[in-house]
Amino acid sequence: MITQRSVKGQEWYQADDIAEEYEEKRFSRGGRLIDRREKQAVLDALAPVEDSTVLEVACGTGRFTVMLAERGADIVGMDISGPMLQQGREKARAAGVDDHLEFMRGDAGRLPFPDDHFDAVFAMRFFHLADTPASYLSEMRRVSKGTVFFDTFNRFSTRSIYNWALPMGSRLYSRYEVRKLLDDAGLELVTDDHDFVLPYGFYREIPGSTASTFRRIDTTLGSIPGGDRLSSVSYWHCEG
Ligand SMILES: C[S@@+](CC[C@H](N)C(=O)[O-])C[C@H]1O[C@@H](n2cnc3c(N)ncnc32)[C@H](O)[C@@H]1O
Repeated sequence: MITQRSVKGQEWYQADDIAEEYEEKRFSRGGRLIDRREKQAVLDALAPVEDSTVLEVACGTGRFTVMLAERGADIVGMDISGPMLQQGREKARAAGVDDHLEFMRGDAGRLPFPDDHFDAVFAMRFFHLADTPASYLSEMRRVSKGTVFFDTFNRFSTRSIYNWALPMGSRLYSRYEVRKLLDDAGLELVTDDHDFVLPYGFYREIPGSTASTFRRIDTTLGSIPGGDRLSSVSYWHCEG
């Protein structure tokens, strides 16, 4: 039996309808550019991808798992939700890579792999759900012999304005807190990237045709001195 630790809304992603609508709700319309940006962040952190062994923790519907399998990674996608994994399996079949990846059901708090098993381990959109991030990060570090990569939503940002309205809220992090988590896990920061002054929730509500205009304003705001301090998302690329 799989035991779940402290993850917000742990029941939420177990429902078939939530899993079926997951991508359509977040990554259609203006949300497409978020999907692209996140995929680029993963590719940058994991390069070179081909032939590397990768674990994706909380892989959900396999957005990244399938992309990385298509690029020749030897990848396992793990998630606690059967319905989310089912979406991933269908996507892998449609992309013709179902023989090149493995999806497995499991708990991020107890990764069923020996120490230093993968070249890289990453989790996207997971740490905002975790009430005990240190325990998850230390598991990720344990099974990676190199790269550990993840994202966080930021406390001092536009995300905090609508956080209360989200069905399960999100854990928001300060940069100080993440750096402390990395220190405690024995991880070295390689690069950190801070983006999206306008929060994800804004983009997913607007048509794709106007999203790139707002994205230009967003990146301009982020690039003025101190602008990245307003970013709602951070991407953390570390080494064990
Ligand atoms: C917001 S979704 C992100 C999915 C995917 N990483 C993405 O970016 O599209 C969060 C995922 O975390 C999974 N999850 C929640 N608690 C988990 C746990 N303890 N172990 C593994 N996965 C978990 C959920 O089932 C869900 O698929």
